[in-house]
Amino acid sequence: MPLVFRTLLFGFVTLLVVLLIIDDIAVVEEEPANAGHSKKMNLLITKLHRTRAVPRADPASSTRPSTEPLPRRPSCNASARLSSSWTFNRTLSALIRKNILRFLDPERDISILKGTLKPGDIIHYVFDRQSTTNISENLYRLLPTVSPMKNQHHRRCAIVGNSGILLNSSCGPEIDSHDFVIRCNLAPVEEYSGDVGRSTNLVTMNPSVVQRAFQDLVSTEWRERFLRRLRGLSGSVLWIPAFMAKGGEERVEWALRLILLHTVDVRTAFPSLRLLHAVRGYWLTNNVHIKRPTTGLLMYTMATRFCEEIHLYGFWPFPLDPRGSPVKYHYYDALKYKYTSSSSPHTMPLEFRTLSTLHRQGALRLHTGACDAGRKPQTEPHSK
Ligand SMILES: *[C@@H]1O[C@H](CO)[C@@H](O)[C@H](O)[C@H]1NC(C)=O
Ligand SMILES: *[C@@H]1O[C@H](CO)[C@@H](O)[C@H](O)[C@H]1NC(C)=O
Ligand SMILES: *[C@@H]1O[C@H](CO)[C@@H](O)[C@H](O)[C@H]1NC(C)=O
Ligand SMILES: *[C@@H]1O[C@H](CO)[C@@H](O)[C@H](O)[C@H]1NC(C)=O
Repeated sequence: MPLVFRTLLFGFVTLLVVLLIIDDIAVVEEEPANAGHSKKMNLLITKLHRTRAVPRADPASSTRPSTEPLPRRPSCNASARLSSSWTFNRTLSALIRKNILRFLDPERDISILKGTLKPGDIIHYVFDRQSTTNISENLYRLLPTVSPMKNQHHRRCAIVGNSGILLNSSCGPEIDSHDFVIRCNLAPVEEYSGDVGRSTNLVTMNPSVVQRAFQDLVSTEWRERFLRRLRGLSGSVLWIPAFMAKGGEERVEWALRLILLHTVDVRTAFPSLRLLHAVRGYWLTNNVHIKRPTTGLLMYTMATRFCEEIHLYGFWPFPLDPRGSPVKYHYYDALKYKYTSSSSPHTMPLEFRTLSTLHRQGALRLHTGACDAGRKPQTEPHSK
């Protein structure tokens, strides 16, 4: 019975392929800590490493004692080189987009959709797997029915990090000139618009922001302040990673209640439960051994899907600027932070080196200097 035989053979081969794919996925999900065994995508990686500054100018390696002043001249030279000539490499950018799509589809993973969950469903936190939370009525009501990024394609996007390097940069108008602007953690814009701009199409909000920047909405005054900030977003995407780590559920709930109560015009989105692992999987496979991606790197990884040219502002994980002047951790508050503390879940200097390499290759553009023609980028900061 050759037909039966062929059918059986076909079934067997199909099963084998499926098993191989599952195995492949499992490898990504388990995040091969130091494994060099995912060779498929090492092409980019190899390049990332080859082009790295020769003497491994690595002022911020986490093995360095924290008493030592961090970034000194090597990184300054590196960053000085950033600002000179830059040309966009469309081919490389398209290649990166394609590779990222093997790990995640940002259009889908940017948010859980309404159809996939119902109120009362139990969710395991992404980083605290043994802890769970429930999908509240409010959260359910604010889940989008279609991806907020569906069919969106933009020519030039800006991702604005929150580093104090933006202060006195006059980058506001330049940032606002992009077709799509992404900001992080509901950072204030009004008071700093000359340096950071105002335009916002998507802004992230970690649950901790509700506490840190809005005092847990304890008083009418703080609730009003929070609402004012949200109203300023007028229709933008508010991206809330609600299921990453336990402890934020009440804060998310308070924020959502206010949004519903006051029918604030924002489009809420809640990242899929697989997003972080997928993003980390992509970078690990490319030999970038991050612990947990920062919001900035997450946004870059996702933006590759929607944006041709990606410009990054306010990414600077060092306490001194290229000229040796102190840089605030955030442009808008007094938070102090050690970039290289081993207890931190992030590996910002490593991320920055990676982004710098991609900048030199023309895949993205990292802006670390002043923008305005009226203020020459190379003038000394204390010349006034
Ligand atoms: C790098 O910085 C050092 C110290 O400021 C300086 O002496 C050197 O000329 C710089 N190198 C380049 C290539 O700019
Ligand atoms: C752009 O990137 C591609 C892929 O990495 C590379 O082959 C090509 O040489 C680059 N082009 C330029 C002008 O650097
Ligand atoms: C969440 O679900 C659990 C299990 O169904 C239930 O015991 C608990 O009361 C729920 N909590 C809330 C806040 O709804
Ligand atoms: C920005 O410029 C003002 C006025 O020149 C100055 O007082 C302030 O220290 C500068 N801030 C930073 C972070 O460079």
